[in-house]
Amino acid sequence: MKNQTEATNYKTEIHEMDYTAIYEEKKATAATMIYEGARSTQSLDGLWSYGIDQYDTCLRAKWYEEQYFDKDGLQLPVDFSFDEWPKMQLPCSYNLVKPELFWYEGSMVFTRNFLMEPKKGEKVFLKIGAANYLCRVFINKKFVGMHRGGSTPAYFEITEYLEKMNRILITVDNTRRSTQVPMDNTDWFNYGGIYRSMELICVPEIFIKNLAVGLDTADRSFETVKVKVTISEEVNGEAVLQIPALGIEEAIRIEKGEGSISIKAKPDLWTPEAPVLYDVMVSFGADELSDRIGFRDIKVEGNKIILNGEEIFLRGISCHEDSPETGKALTDEERIEIIKTAKELGCNFMRLAHYPHHENTAKLADEMGLLLWEEIPVYWAIDFDNEKTYEDAENQLLELIGRDKNRASVIIWSVGNENQDTESRYKFMKSLADTARKADPSRLVSAACVIDHTVNIINDRLGECLDVIGVNEYCGWYEPDFEKLPQLLRNSNPDKPVIITEFGADARCGHRGSIIDKGTEDCQAHIYRQQVATLDKIPYVQGMTPWILFDFRCPRRLSVIQDYHNLKGLCDADHKTKKQAFYVLQEYYRKKEQSGT
Ligand code: GCU
Repeated sequence: MKNQTEATNYKTEIHEMDYTAIYEEKKATAATMIYEGARSTQSLDGLWSYGIDQYDTCLRAKWYEEQYFDKDGLQLPVDFSFDEWPKMQLPCSYNLVKPELFWYEGSMVFTRNFLMEPKKGEKVFLKIGAANYLCRVFINKKFVGMHRGGSTPAYFEITEYLEKMNRILITVDNTRRSTQVPMDNTDWFNYGGIYRSMELICVPEIFIKNLAVGLDTADRSFETVKVKVTISEEVNGEAVLQIPALGIEEAIRIEKGEGSISIKAKPDLWTPEAPVLYDVMVSFGADELSDRIGFRDIKVEGNKIILNGEEIFLRGISCHEDSPETGKALTDEERIEIIKTAKELGCNFMRLAHYPHHENTAKLADEMGLLLWEEIPVYWAIDFDNEKTYEDAENQLLELIGRDKNRASVIIWSVGNENQDTESRYKFMKSLADTARKADPSRLVSAACVIDHTVNIINDRLGECLDVIGVNEYCGWYEPDFEKLPQLLRNSNPDKPVIITEFGADARCGHRGSIIDKGTEDCQAHIYRQQVATLDKIPYVQGMTPWILFDFRCPRRLSVIQDYHNLKGLCDADHKTKKQAFYVLQEYYRKKEQSGT
């Protein structure tokens, strides 16, 4: 009996087990990103045809090649109808757009046609804001590349694939897998599809590939602005930097594609209370780009967090990227409302859990004045022994840093959440922390760590690799004995600042009762009162981001009052109705702000 590998009589895609191997090339990664700034772009948002491709037949049978005839010109049967398929407005979380897709996890095929005629010498890049989780891109029947990761942008150079009228086809697979980041078990809804905008970016043959602007952190006077420019080729020349409001117009010498400059200047420093932004323009040859930059300095000293030379207590709240109407595909209006609600709560800080949120969140936080903790989804149990899993995690981290490195609001890169303190996890996350610090020495590195419940102490070994220790504790809720919190805090003696990155309790909005009735607003509010009263006394606790601003969809929460939602929000999932605990925390933050501690 011939075994499968020896069969020579007949082989087609139905026999190919390892059909994805050919799509593991031409990866979009942090290295292929380009700096967008305020470049003009052509949007690819709009109506796309879509197919629900549960068996991944598009990739197996190479539908994107559109083979309608065989080599002798005889017609072939096909199993797709690209332009006759139903349409979907992209970007979106398809789960909320088509009821039949609410729980769907698997591959989807999206395709449309578009006109694009690049000018002579121009290069064209495709940017996909985010697609969850694996996406493969095809243009005019050819494989352009792939991207792995559900929350960071993918950039592909597509110049060589373009004709005048073009077909683009993108397959997206949101299947959860134990080797992915996050793996297949999380506490949030696994929205699928292409849920952030797609655009075409035209740049000159030689263009500005990267730009880093900020205070020169070596200069403690906060009176030196540092700008680093990277060009797409290793050329020599001169870039021109302009920051009109600072009276800066300077040449930056470029050698082998790199150049940087440090300039004496006295920018008004960016703070949440006074979020001053400066227009920065850089040109090189035929290319020019601009961005709006805030100048600020963040560091730690002993147990204190220091913003622009002054101690700051981070009055925060955690937030998922989850909307009742749009899932993860929030509108800017929704993002603005979220920031306004956090500021109404009295926050100067927000933890964007547990994955990179839309880039506009950080841009809006820059404009509106809110400090941010940004995080990659190295969440709970990850395949810490798997090298490809590490590559995926590190790439998501570098893509996040590459995307948001010029956002003044972002002060902390978090390399994960609530991972078990094992040897392989320590090695994996120490490497991520080192990578973050090397990629961006101007910010703090943290992670939300678990406490050691066996001896009730803060002693996660990862803490030694972090600038700030995040601590998740649920005393009064998952740990019913609230007295464990004062004990924990007495037992612990960290040598660096601690942010309590999670505490809280479920409460069904409108459900009232006594302070011991779990699931009521009264119980949640009581736990908040106990928590803030206890934490306020601890000198090394320099911030908190209680869990969480809004109730959110969660497939793990099946009790009848939860109805597939995590109910720890201070507001209902409608993002409007506030619970009792909102006012408890608001009162505490008002006092903290007034006392200036
Ligand atoms: C954990 C986890 C959150 C989760 C929360 C909860 O701390 O970090 O993602 O939603 O607990 O159980 O509600």
